[in-house]
Amino acid sequence: MPTLELRDVGKSYGGLPAVDGVSIGADDGEILAIVGPNGAGKSTLLKLIVGLEPATKGTIVFDGEDLTNYPPHRIRQRGIALVQQTPRAFPSMNVLENVALAALFGRANAHRDEEKALARAGEALEFVGLADRRFDHVGNLNLHQQRFLALARAVAGDPRVLLLDEVMAGLNDAELATSISIVRAIRDLRHITVIWVEHVMKAVMSLAERVVVLNFGKVLTQGLPQDVMRDPAVVEAYLGETSQSA
Ligand SMILES: Nc1ncnc2c1ncn2[C@@H]1O[C@H](COP(=O)(O)OP(=O)(O)O)[C@@H](O)[C@H]1O
Ligand SMILES: [Mg+2]
Repeated sequence: MPTLELRDVGKSYGGLPAVDGVSIGADDGEILAIVGPNGAGKSTLLKLIVGLEPATKGTIVFDGEDLTNYPPHRIRQRGIALVQQTPRAFPSMNVLENVALAALFGRANAHRDEEKALARAGEALEFVGLADRRFDHVGNLNLHQQRFLALARAVAGDPRVLLLDEVMAGLNDAELATSISIVRAIRDLRHITVIWVEHVMKAVMSLAERVVVLNFGKVLTQGLPQDVMRDPAVVEAYLGETSQSA
């Protein structure tokens, strides 16, 4: 049984479909990658799942509950978190305070207990290897540390499903390896389902258990990473992207 199920989900902007009738599911505890050329609708799809954009058609069901077009804070409380491409943090707070704030408004902390939130934040920072930066100003973190901070914020909210939008773009090989092991640990140790939009194919091939390919807002194909990446239709979709950007 899929934990999260999208049925014929769509989103149009001014009559143009960005996401065009997507039906996919993610099983409990799985690492599912969503790939596809630029403009395929990947980021829009993640925003629909967390309610940042209203769907124009279809239903989104999580653990048997229809969440379609719930407000974002209710979806977050149900345990679905999104880490967006450009991490956002509160610049006036330090690293620990930023993560604690996320813990305060996450799934588990219904009573808004500040002490518990700080404890969870500390654990989340250990998890991503930023514990020694806890009292730093967020402005002093470099790009990959800001990405890890965003992961810590998401983990601190105790999600059941974590959506990641190209969190590995622009990292060097060592940072990429660290990111991969953090995401794997998030699933293995916290049993969080991961739905992960990614352009870095090396990372997808080493971490994803299943891959969905989007193209022009539709599911082009899905399956095991090695099978999907050999699919001629997938190769063609990416070649199209290369020639457009050249
Ligand atoms: N807020 C918006 N208003 C209008 N068009 C949008 C908006 N967001 C995305 N789109 C369009 O939807 C399509 C899919 O975008 P996006 O989901 O960002 O793709 P991807 O993440 O796969 O690169 C693109 O054609 C994009 O221009
Ligand atoms: Mg995108």
